Amino acid sequence: MLIRLFFSKVNIVSQKKIAIVTGANSGLGKAFVEGLLQEPIDEIWAIARNEARLLEVQALAPQRIRIFSADLTEPLSLSEFETTLTQEQPCVHYLVNNAGFAKFADYESLNMHESSNLIDLNAKAVVQMALRSIPFMNQGSCIINIGSLSAFLPLPYMNIYAATKVFVKNYSLALREELKPRGIHVTAVCPGWIDTNLYARAEIGAKKSVNTFTGMVKPDVVAQKAIRDAKVNRPLSIYGFLPNAVRILAKFLPASLCMRLWMLQQKF
Ligand SMILES: NC(=O)c1ccc[n+]([C@@H]2O[C@H](COP(=O)([O-])OP(=O)(O)OC[C@H]3O[C@@H](n4cnc5c(N)ncnc54)[C@H](OP(=O)(O)O)[C@@H]3O)[C@@H](O)[C@H]2O)c1
Repeated sequence: MLIRLFFSKVNIVSQKKIAIVTGANSGLGKAFVEGLLQEPIDEIWAIARNEARLLEVQALAPQRIRIFSADLTEPLSLSEFETTLTQEQPCVHYLVNNAGFAKFADYESLNMHESSNLIDLNAKAVVQMALRSIPFMNQGSCIINIGSLSAFLPLPYMNIYAATKVFVKNYSLALREELKPRGIHVTAVCPGWIDTNLYARAEIGAKKSVNTFTGMVKPDVVAQKAIRDAKVNRPLSIYGFLPNAVRILAKFLPASLCMRLWMLQQKF
């Protein structure tokens, strides 16, 4: 009995406390890695596809950042990641579901593969990573899901992207309620425009395309606020005056009017 107690204590003491960040080699994800390095976390597990850029992130703190080159739309990558979690049995203190991309295009210009891939990464992978990580979470652990301000209004010419972010927001709010008894926090981050590499992949030279990005902010301020909000278990994290104002307006104005205003400021 005493021996069993001793070993269970040793196991608790030696359990590694980790943060998982998807889309960690660029933009907002990299800013989360930088922010989480200031937290009492043993290791940050950084996930993205491009290994060269992951290695650059790892160079920030080689002893504390571990990299995983993986495409989160591939079922095999997700199950390999689950195997690593099962073998190592860490405590997942933060899961930052950040990997995502946008396409600025009318519905005709986006092919079938890209349309599905948007849903696979922006919505499906968020669920897949959460379900795989929750068994390794304890009281006080945080799930930070990256939505967007587009979670609050339909956006023509980035219609699928905006719809995936509605999914992320509502999934996060509902999951938050379900995880309350276990003391696990869930926060949906809904930023406006952020200065990242998102635009390079989003712009495909479509006939009609999003072209105005009002009120763009740097990724570090969004990440820092999100970490603060997650710690105190805020349901939503929205940085800046303009995105908060848009969110409130979208609550009271009809969706048709919101879309007309969006189209006007996009100069179509
Ligand atoms: N920028 C904005 O204005 C803005 C506004 C609101 C919300 N957001 C959200 O913020 C999040 C981060 O985007 P960002 O702006 O920082 O763009 P970003 O700089 O392009 O970063 C996207 C990240 O996702 C990774 N990624 C892309 N496809 C992946 C895949 N199939 N599997 C695994 N990782 C993948 C990318 O790395 P690899 O290419 O190497 O895989 C990269 O690390 C997204 O969810 C986005 O929707 C952005």
